[in-house]
Amino acid sequence: MTRDVGPISSPAIVCHGGAGHGAKDQPGVDAAVEAGWEKLQSGSSAIDAAIAAILIMEDDPVLNAGTGGRIRADGSVQLDAALMTSDGRYGAVTCIEYTKNPILVAAKLLDKKINMLAGRGARDFADSIGVPRIAVKGSEKPSGNDTVGAIVRDSTGLIVVASSTGGCTGRPAGRVGDTPLIGAGLWCDENIGVAATGIGEAITLKMSSIRIADKFSNCNEIQVALEWGVSQFKSDIEVGFIALAKDGEGVGAANTAMPWSTMT
Ligand code: GLY
Repeated sequence: MTRDVGPISSPAIVCHGGAGHGAKDQPGVDAAVEAGWEKLQSGSSAIDAAIAAILIMEDDPVLNAGTGGRIRADGSVQLDAALMTSDGRYGAVTCIEYTKNPILVAAKLLDKKINMLAGRGARDFADSIGVPRIAVKGSEKPSGNDTVGAIVRDSTGLIVVASSTGGCTGRPAGRVGDTPLIGAGLWCDENIGVAATGIGEAITLKMSSIRIADKFSNCNEIQVALEWGVSQFKSDIEVGFIALAKDGEGVGAANTAMPWSTMT
């Protein structure tokens, strides 16, 4: 029996280490791109490559996700993560505690009927799939508040967006930013994947990721769509975006202050 693997497409990956981070945090982003690229080269799916890239960044204590997730006002470390695919799947967790790699939990929701789990329910689900319950140290760093992201396209043309964050330092327990929210922190359709980074409340109000995808479907220029996304915010609001389109249509990032990297 043969399996239809769809059209042959050129693999590509783009990652970012968060708006508000500088060049010194570039190594973790480069390592993430390399890990994802290695997966793609060995024939793994875009989902597995995106997870591999995010795991590297969640384990990097200088980046705001997983181990380096920012500490909440009550001292807790509550993390968010999400994935969306160009074939219409979405999985997210928000405010999950005792979980070093929340992307592993979000990924398991891609093929469930439930899209998103929060707090205790997310952690209970993590227990049910064998993701270790472990205290996360977190980071009190007051700046460089934001999120890691990866967008991957594999040889079948599948595009996957994945993001993970500890949110913003000092926000109350239970606060949800843009990162796990479909359309706001991430979007993926058959034309393009978009991931956001920055102040979650502002990004959510603008529904930035889906609107950048819409812009791209009108203008067909990835950099124009991304710059338009940034232009929707006042200059004192920290935001950034990465995007990866279907084969032949390119890859881009806006807000060059954030560390980002790509391989195609
Ligand atoms: N952009 C991540 C957050 O605000 O939570």
